[in-house]
Amino acid sequence: SSAEKDGHDWFMRKEIFEQPRAVADSLLGRRDASGRLQLDEMRLADEELRDIDKIIIIACGTSFYAGMVAKYAIEHWTRTPVEVELASEFRYRDPIIDATTLIVAISQSGETADTLQAIRHARSQRAKVLAICNTNGSSIPRESDAVIYTHAGPEIGVASTKGFLTQLVACYLLALYIAQVKGTRFGDEIDEIMEHLEAMPGHIETVLSGADAVYSLAADHASSRSVLFLGRHAGYPVALEGALKLKELAYLHAEGFAAGELKHGPIALVEDGLPVLCVVPPKGRDQLHGKMLSGIQEVRARGARTICLAEEGDTSIEPYADELIRLPKVPVLLQPLVAIVPLQLFACELATVLGHDVDQPRNLAKSVTVE
Ligand code: AGP
Repeated sequence: SSAEKDGHDWFMRKEIFEQPRAVADSLLGRRDASGRLQLDEMRLADEELRDIDKIIIIACGTSFYAGMVAKYAIEHWTRTPVEVELASEFRYRDPIIDATTLIVAISQSGETADTLQAIRHARSQRAKVLAICNTNGSSIPRESDAVIYTHAGPEIGVASTKGFLTQLVACYLLALYIAQVKGTRFGDEIDEIMEHLEAMPGHIETVLSGADAVYSLAADHASSRSVLFLGRHAGYPVALEGALKLKELAYLHAEGFAAGELKHGPIALVEDGLPVLCVVPPKGRDQLHGKMLSGIQEVRARGARTICLAEEGDTSIEPYADELIRLPKVPVLLQPLVAIVPLQLFACELATVLGHDVDQPRNLAKSVTVE
């Protein structure tokens, strides 16, 4: 009923709007009185973490994209090498793992068979397994050495939304915790990053207050046959996740690309009127922003209709954006937390306009318990 959905038409929409709260809950109680990070449920001793020389993240679908973001954050803040692997591929390639490898298994449901089999394989090779999971007592955390729960509350919609945002939070916390334990030079910045994280619920609220503009964009594009998503750096997994949402819910051909890869092939797909959603990185000291801008110019010159997600105050994007969605100003590594929200709203609305069942998309199950 609509009451269970807080007046929303779909559980998915309700869960999108719950994200500020979910992210806040996920951050709750993670610092002690002196401000140091503490991950209570974690159960891995600092010595064990210090010995880790490689991290392999395994997950499926949306959780895999959270893992891709985690790689950027963990490597940058801790200087520990990270691989991200689809759980269904992991054990078939005879991965190199031993007792100094930390496996991070990310799963909203905790019951995904591909991920469960992958951690069983990893443990048989003596690797330590840390689960990032939303479901207390589910199989994956039960079969892991340690767990960080995401505290998003039950996720009913088949399309993961608040599950994804809280997985990102858990990944950032893990990265910062490892930085704290290892004492890397980014250790000094932990406080600053935590403050940015603690401001996120407010920023997500700001993005949600612009939902109506995103809905009308979605309605404008309801007759599209194909939609592309572009991103770079932490915005690349956001592009992939935005595309997955549209496939799952609107049954549209949608693909995400790393913007720098366009010229190596995908730009051939661009034709007149093709909608391209572009996740623009914040302006920083690096070349990322400028490079993204030239990618956007390239697709636009070939007739694409560009829908750009760019931070507040970034005026350089205006000449190249047919449509502009503003994002709050946040550090590049944390930008996925705000950038994915309009893409969730876009997919939810487009599927609604097309008359699809958003909570129960065809051919899909909430937890995939077969390999
Ligand atoms: C997300 O919208 C999907 N329904 C799906 O990709 C999902 O993320 C994947 O099956 C993994 O599920 P899990 O996080 O419960 O392991």
